[in-house]
Amino acid sequence: MLETVKGLLKEVKGFTPKSEKEVEVFRLKFLGKKGKLNELFNTFKSAPNKNKKEFGQAINILKKNAEEKVYFFKGSFAKSSLLLERVDLSRPVNTPGLGSKHPISLIRNHILSIFKNVGFVVSEGPEIEDDWHNFSALNLAIEHPARDMQDTFFVQTNPDMLLRTHTSSVQVRHMEKNAPPIRTISPGRVYRNEAVSARSHCIFHQVEGLYIDKGVSFADLKQIILYFAKEMFGEKTKIRLRPSYFPFTEPSAEVDVYWGLQNESDHRITKGTGWLEILGCGMVDPNVLTNCDIDPKKYTGYAFGMGIERIAMLKYGIKDLRFFYENDIRFLKQFSSI
Ligand code: DAH
Repeated sequence: MLETVKGLLKEVKGFTPKSEKEVEVFRLKFLGKKGKLNELFNTFKSAPNKNKKEFGQAINILKKNAEEKVYFFKGSFAKSSLLLERVDLSRPVNTPGLGSKHPISLIRNHILSIFKNVGFVVSEGPEIEDDWHNFSALNLAIEHPARDMQDTFFVQTNPDMLLRTHTSSVQVRHMEKNAPPIRTISPGRVYRNEAVSARSHCIFHQVEGLYIDKGVSFADLKQIILYFAKEMFGEKTKIRLRPSYFPFTEPSAEVDVYWGLQNESDHRITKGTGWLEILGCGMVDPNVLTNCDIDPKKYTGYAFGMGIERIAMLKYGIKDLRFFYENDIRFLKQFSSI
């Protein structure tokens, strides 16, 4: 009997199948219901007691070896079946969809890079601002009628604090901390108490520019605005400056770019003029310099401010300001390749 088991063990140990099918035949032969091992266990029951220990051990070793063979070879054929199915392991995986940059970020970054290229440094200030930085230092004393130009959200518990109505507040902060020459560009979010519509919103974004040095003139201002307009809207872009009023600049101007009157939409957005306003600017008022401890007899400078949404609407042909804040995935997806 022991000899039979030994013979079977030799067979099990030498088993090297060539296919999964051979493994299955082997499994049934040894481990199946009517297999060799069950047969042996049955004979074991009627074996003489003195042989039982040795015989039992031998059957167990045989069983263990047979099980290991099945386990090992099943696994190895399962792996190679990947090749039989012709799975291309070098194929790129399905990546989760990549997000896109928000159009406001795209335009903000573009504006910043245009000015960084000519030596402007980026500066930022707080969105919750005090009266001094948002108004008074900018030549808008309390009771100044021009404060009405910007409907303001005040902090209820502290009437001196407000949500900044423009990024011009950052000019003041920057001048307070830095001595001329100053060349800075300040992006940020601003707030105004306005009804939400396709053309206005209570939250929007601006970029403020400031240049202070000895001998800065209006010609320098015109030059930098022309450079910006060409970089943003194309080499052939034409600009015009219209006299305007801002309390913090003197003289002040509004800048238009020539959009053209090619089609119906051009007529509509330019109100039939062909020109579109893009920003406000001017020579920094001497009072503002004095408020920031800069001597207006020694230094002059220019400043400008523009709305990021406005530039984005022009660049991408977006007709409704509310799209920027609704975060509709179908809107945002359109900017994924930019
Ligand atoms: N702060 C102005 C606004 O929000 C924009 C502006 C106009 C900024 C003229 C300036 C400037 O620096 O010189 O409407």
